[in-house]
Amino acid sequence: NSAIQAGKWHQGAGMKAFYDILIVGAGHAGAQAAIALRQKKFEGSIGLVGNEKYPPYERPPLSKEYLAGDKPFERILLRPESFWPEREIDLLTGNRVSKIDPVAKKVTLTSDDEIGYGKLIWATGGSPRMLDCPGSQARNIHAVRSRADVDKIMAALPSVDKAVVVGGGYIGLEAAAVLTKLGKQVTIVESLDRVLSRVAGEPLSRFYEAEHRRQGVTIELEASVSGFETNDEGIATAVTLADGRTLAADMFVVGIGIIPETGPLVAAGAATGNGVDVDSHCRTSLDDIYAIGDCAAHSNAFADGAMIRLESVQNANDQAKVAALDIIGEEAEYDSVPWFWSNQYDLKLQTVGLSAGHDSHVVRGDPDSRSFSVIYYRDGKVVALDCVNATKDYVQGRKAVVEGLNLDKNELVDTDIPIKEVGVR
Ligand code: APR
Repeated sequence: NSAIQAGKWHQGAGMKAFYDILIVGAGHAGAQAAIALRQKKFEGSIGLVGNEKYPPYERPPLSKEYLAGDKPFERILLRPESFWPEREIDLLTGNRVSKIDPVAKKVTLTSDDEIGYGKLIWATGGSPRMLDCPGSQARNIHAVRSRADVDKIMAALPSVDKAVVVGGGYIGLEAAAVLTKLGKQVTIVESLDRVLSRVAGEPLSRFYEAEHRRQGVTIELEASVSGFETNDEGIATAVTLADGRTLAADMFVVGIGIIPETGPLVAAGAATGNGVDVDSHCRTSLDDIYAIGDCAAHSNAFADGAMIRLESVQNANDQAKVAALDIIGEEAEYDSVPWFWSNQYDLKLQTVGLSAGHDSHVVRGDPDSRSFSVIYYRDGKVVALDCVNATKDYVQGRKAVVEGLNLDKNELVDTDIPIKEVGVR
């Protein structure tokens, strides 16, 4: 469905032996770093290495409009094809870095080619965590992380009646919503006692569970996968749960989180833990090496300064800009307010702030009306809002998160009072 052919970019771009800025990872973070450098009139050479075959594209639509067939690949490109050569950004797609030599300042690709760098920006994101159990290598068990993953799902859909989605995070829920809309019979298998437990409070989880069930999805909570039954052709025909039950399906989708891609940086001696540690300028512990996006663990002001990774477009873009500014010698520190969104059915969720670690919450509006917000507090300060079909709350609530306001809870539950007019205690 695409005029953009695999491999074309690699052949077209050619590869230099040295780049002033070498960016590894051509997702949102890596692409934005290159874009930001050129916007700031950086004139040195820029190479953008990506292990996928395609020019940089938006990842969020993969589990939404792209999977649904509502948006072709051209419409989810981060920039038109012509942008990269026009800006003299060499796209080195279809390449993977296997080694970094931080002293000689060069990387080695799996092709054995070597590329020297002035500064290196590590923007590799993560690979989808997959299940490791009997049968888990079957061809019809899919991740949802790359265009290739979703193309495989789409190609198989015509012969699918039943699908099992493992994982009730945003990836699993969004995939379940699209598959349901496409007429498939979907079961979600979630290991914890509610969906979205990593990222949202209980009212939001219960609302989304009810909504999916209303749409015909079966949700199995506290259910863990022990294996897959496979046929002679190596196709999975059912998933087996730890309680002994089996759920038959034609397709299995796994959305159980990502593992940050940090291998070469670990081997090179960078400080790592949960991802690659970076300071407020997105610098790693190694000279002239930055890390940004899903793989970068940073002290986040909206998490009480805890070292966390944020898996979001907001974080990718904002860290990319900080690294670019630092490289050209402009003062910049990463202190952006986190935001995120998810579309499922006709529900538009918008989140600002981080709700993890909240000690109380308020529900504003009636979930049954399909428009409401959950406002989270920690130590008497608003730390996050989850707004479902409530864009006004999202826009107006941002200030409370940024400034850590103690919004009056009695006024907050009164939807006649706009959030910006709610009193502060
Ligand atoms: N079986 C069933 N469920 C599991 C298992 C398992 N073995 N392991 C984990 N889970 C559940 C978790 O409890 C959680 O609810 O899978 C869910 C995974 O959710 P996330 O960690 O949020 O990951 P995912 O939804 O895959 O999203 C990955 O994509 O859209 C982005 O922001 C999202 O960056 C995130 C990434």
